[in-house]
Amino acid sequence: MADIDPWGDVELGNYSEKMDKFGIEPIEEIEERLPDHRFIRRGIIFGHRDLDELLDARDEGDDFAMITGIMPSGVFHFGHKCVVDQIKMYQEMGAEITIAAADIEAYNTRNMSLEEARELVVEEYLKNYVALGIDLENIDFYFQSQAGNDHLAKAAMFGRYLTQNEMEATYGNADPAKMSSAQVQYADILRPQFSENGGSKPTVVPVGIDQDPHIRLTREVARKYRDQEFVKPASTYNKFMRGLQGGKMSSSKPKSYIALTDSVEEAKEKIDQAKTGGKDSLEEHREKGADVEEDMVFELLAFHLIKDDEELERIRREYSSGEMLSGELKQIAKEKIEEFLTEHQRKREEASEEVEQYIEENFDFN
Ligand code: TRP
Repeated sequence: MADIDPWGDVELGNYSEKMDKFGIEPIEEIEERLPDHRFIRRGIIFGHRDLDELLDARDEGDDFAMITGIMPSGVFHFGHKCVVDQIKMYQEMGAEITIAAADIEAYNTRNMSLEEARELVVEEYLKNYVALGIDLENIDFYFQSQAGNDHLAKAAMFGRYLTQNEMEATYGNADPAKMSSAQVQYADILRPQFSENGGSKPTVVPVGIDQDPHIRLTREVARKYRDQEFVKPASTYNKFMRGLQGGKMSSSKPKSYIALTDSVEEAKEKIDQAKTGGKDSLEEHREKGADVEEDMVFELLAFHLIKDDEELERIRREYSSGEMLSGELKQIAKEKIEEFLTEHQRKREEASEEVEQYIEENFDFN
């Protein structure tokens, strides 16, 4: 079996073990060169490969790019918001932004029709992306199935640069549906460097560790490719946000996530039912304090709902000393989520027509 299965269940934690094993560098070493972003300050983005090369390009005024993909898996929740916040960060840094809608991968590995995949991409992802501040006019957004002849030809021809041993060692089983979508993903990752997009340039792919097998093999393809020069793609790694009940956040378990389209009432109910790090009795809680690291409400605050570090630290202090109770922490989260969802859903409503028009003008699915 492979060490990491990009199509299977994600493994939470053990991040430092994987960093050692796969040669991922700690992000702290280059922290001063990066934007002041809560994901970096809070260790949510913990590692990278070759990001320094991209920062050098930025400092020199040279072109650099960021690419990510949308795997349409169901409703858009706070776990998915992590990548959107990172797209915004790189857009502000001046990166060229590319977003691949992974309809071929969904078709091949999730038993979806292309129509279902596209519908989810538009309704659940793009509308929320735009509401969160992504400007579609300034990015290269495409569906894999319509990526163009050059893109899909390269995807097919990349096969020449990889061996069966490498595929099996990296992915475990190498079944055709997965392998062809993996090759399309290598083309996605190298697309910002295609000659029609200005040629070779440092490119970063912000991912969860589950996608690292694809990154490693794309780097291998980039190294061996002969028909043009590619810079080996850089990557950053973010921790997975855990589910509200502890353990994995999963699209198939509605109580594990808050969707950005959940009603305020639903969201508050999910917070009420969330796993906390509070102690069983008031007496014990006051004496020993909460286990903040095991509190899923605190995790939601730290990942998304509190931007100000001082405010977050004050809560951590009071909660871990036992001064603050779980109910009080939940109250804070419920106020924040109400404010966030109300505003976000208003923006999503506003974005809806714009996104539909954008799709109609730019894509022809017949
Ligand atoms: N495989 C990715 C996922 O499951 C989606 C994806 C497709 C992607 N192409 C990509 C991610 C290119 C990063 C870069 O989420």
